[in-house]
Amino acid sequence: IQAPVITIDGPSGSGKGTIAKLVADRLGYALLDSGALYRLTALAALNADVDLNDQAKLAEVAANLDIRFDIANGEVSAVMDGKDVSRDIRMERVSMAASKVAAVPAVREALLQRQRDFRAAPGLVADGRDMGTTVFPDAPVKIFLTASAEERARRRYEQLRGRGVSVSLRDLLEDIRARDDRDMNRATSPLAPAEDAVVLDSTDIDIDAVLQKVLDLVHART
Ligand code: C5P
Repeated sequence: IQAPVITIDGPSGSGKGTIAKLVADRLGYALLDSGALYRLTALAALNADVDLNDQAKLAEVAANLDIRFDIANGEVSAVMDGKDVSRDIRMERVSMAASKVAAVPAVREALLQRQRDFRAAPGLVADGRDMGTTVFPDAPVKIFLTASAEERARRRYEQLRGRGVSVSLRDLLEDIRARDDRDMNRATSPLAPAEDAVVLDSTDIDIDAVLQKVLDLVHART
């Protein structure tokens, strides 16, 4: 019998990363931030000057990634070729490249087993876009977390302002809409709730309320 997986999918800015981490902490489960794998692939490709239109080459980069995730003081860091690249993979140019790289079917195929390998006792929380539909279709608990584009842009705005970064709310909203569009309309593993997913809308409820709903589901189903 396989260890249980809790999948949390949704658009960027829905809060799924935050919720996934809280749920994993609470249950003592491992955590898979699948977006980080696409970001690492993008960073490796940019570093090696790989043409982002060369699908075969991108798949090769994905298959040969030398990466690991370290946990220290409750913070996860991404290490590639022995170097901590946690900050690098969050850079704007890497985000853009990641969403391009993620649309390549051969890249998704190359990362599939790597993602499944994160499944281990006592359980796994996996967040992304296609965790419930493609990577862990047999997960006993599937969440699809959304929020309106306006609310997601507003949250991102507060977060960046808190870090002293000056941005325009309107630009952020445009970015979010563009990413949603790419994620939902690609041919392979588009962003969509699994048929058996529970859809939670966090537009008008706070993190604690979302966390409670997810934990209630977990207790009912595992
Ligand atoms: O979630 P995050 O923003 O870190 O994801 C980075 C990129 O990887 C996104 O643009 C998204 O399109 C892609 N992604 C994906 N499938 C996943 C997770 C992320 O296509 N399971």
